[in-house]
Amino acid sequence: LRVLFVSSEMMPLSKTGGLGDVSFSLPAALRRLGHDVRVLTPFYGSVLQAGIGTGDLVAALPMPGFSEPVELRLYVDPRHGVPIYLLNYPPYYLRYGNIYQDPFGKDWSDNDLRFALLSRIGQEIAQARVSELDWRPQVVHANDWQSGLLPYLLELEARVGASRPATLFTVHNLAYQGIFPPSSVAKLGLPPADFHPLGTEYYGQFSFMKTALLYADRITTVSPTYAREIQTKAYGMGLEGLLQARSGVLSGILNGIDAEYWNPAQDSNLPATYSAADLAGKQTCKAALQQEMGLPVDANRLLFGSVGRLVTQKGMDLVADALPAMLRESGGQFVLLGSGDRELESRFQALAQEYPEQVAVRLGYDEGLAHRIEAGLDLFLMPSRFEPCGLNQMYSLAYGTLPLVRRTGGLADTVIDASPVALADGTANGFVFEDASSVALLEAFSHAVSTYSKPDLWRQLQQRGMTQDFSWDRAAQQYAHLYSQIIRF
Ligand code: ADP
Ligand code: GLC
Repeated sequence: LRVLFVSSEMMPLSKTGGLGDVSFSLPAALRRLGHDVRVLTPFYGSVLQAGIGTGDLVAALPMPGFSEPVELRLYVDPRHGVPIYLLNYPPYYLRYGNIYQDPFGKDWSDNDLRFALLSRIGQEIAQARVSELDWRPQVVHANDWQSGLLPYLLELEARVGASRPATLFTVHNLAYQGIFPPSSVAKLGLPPADFHPLGTEYYGQFSFMKTALLYADRITTVSPTYAREIQTKAYGMGLEGLLQARSGVLSGILNGIDAEYWNPAQDSNLPATYSAADLAGKQTCKAALQQEMGLPVDANRLLFGSVGRLVTQKGMDLVADALPAMLRESGGQFVLLGSGDRELESRFQALAQEYPEQVAVRLGYDEGLAHRIEAGLDLFLMPSRFEPCGLNQMYSLAYGTLPLVRRTGGLADTVIDASPVALADGTANGFVFEDASSVALLEAFSHAVSTYSKPDLWRQLQQRGMTQDFSWDRAAQQYAHLYSQIIRF
């Protein structure tokens, strides 16, 4: 099958979260199955920093209303051979700051225009109007609101009698919807007639996410549990009605993890490597992490922590609430790498000052340190309020670091609580709690602490996680199956 995979993030060119990891690994896994998958993604300033050069110019497209032609540059990922079309339009993408936000943490005010262009160019490729490519996809796979206009633009083509590829839209996070004032409709050149409550309008605003959910042939999300949750009021973010109406074409496919890049047996970010059969190197990683974070080196103290975006979704405020009690109860140490909400950042900084021997916090983004934390910790905390899939709990499992998670979304689908039953049948691989409260978190933490005092049991849980298969091949097969069900030519 010929598939155009469109994403606003792709490792190592750009990343703010898991979407970047998925956009790197899934197209590669689909190519391993023999499919001709190509990626379309913006050429941000971060692409220049990735040290891959600028790619080869393949087409310069004059677009009405644009001050200069929009370029497509081709970069072929050397590891997997995935062709990546870099969408180059410097006025939109070559900016300082985050790929979505300015240096003050505010969304770029023209994000509607910036990401509509991504879909517009996707549409040109889908309709074989970029003659230089000499290629037409049978399926267009769009991801999150940033490429959410694409299914709609292709549906508009079909309305005027053109053939179009099939469309699949994946929701990686329903909390980010791409909502803009009604004036966006005209600004983006979209038909005003569709702007009504049963169409592209979301409570008086224009919604990229709703538009995608309405017009895509098929909808997936990144775990089976999240696919069910988003059809309920508690998780649907106001779109549950529409998602219920489309439940016949909605399903969940659990993400995988990159078995080469996230593998403790060959991870070049680590001071020592290790495997399920020989965990000795993990002790070296723990000591090195304690040292790197400025904490006393002590093999016997429980080392727990987290890596992630500090936003409401991740529930790290529950950890901040519970941390003094956790430190008291375990006598352990806590390590955090993350950035986001300024208030939460300062709360953790204050805790690090209050408990200098037990708490170390790094604010910012550091890929190598993320790997060293996954390897060095005993216990990884992910008390998310919602979690479409979550990758860090799977990285933790692969690294012999037991995850402690809230039972939601992809966390519920990957972590099995060390209950007596699950221990007896050998399926347990971590610790799970239900309520989004620091009390419930503490209770699960106590369970983890008492388990940690039984080294044989702890090792059994580690080995269970480390030998589980979270490879992308399974997910890629499921996507390929869906593609084959929806193709039109
Ligand atoms: P989300 O996409 O919601 O942020 P995921 O668990 O799916 O959550 O993916 C997060 C990814 O981003 C992981 O690869 C994680 O290691 C990485 N990450 C998050 N914050 C940081 C950070 N501060 N430094 C390095 N990597 C980070
Ligand atoms: C989103 C979700 C996360 C998921 C990732 C990749 O950012 O928050 O749970 O793992 O997308 O699909």
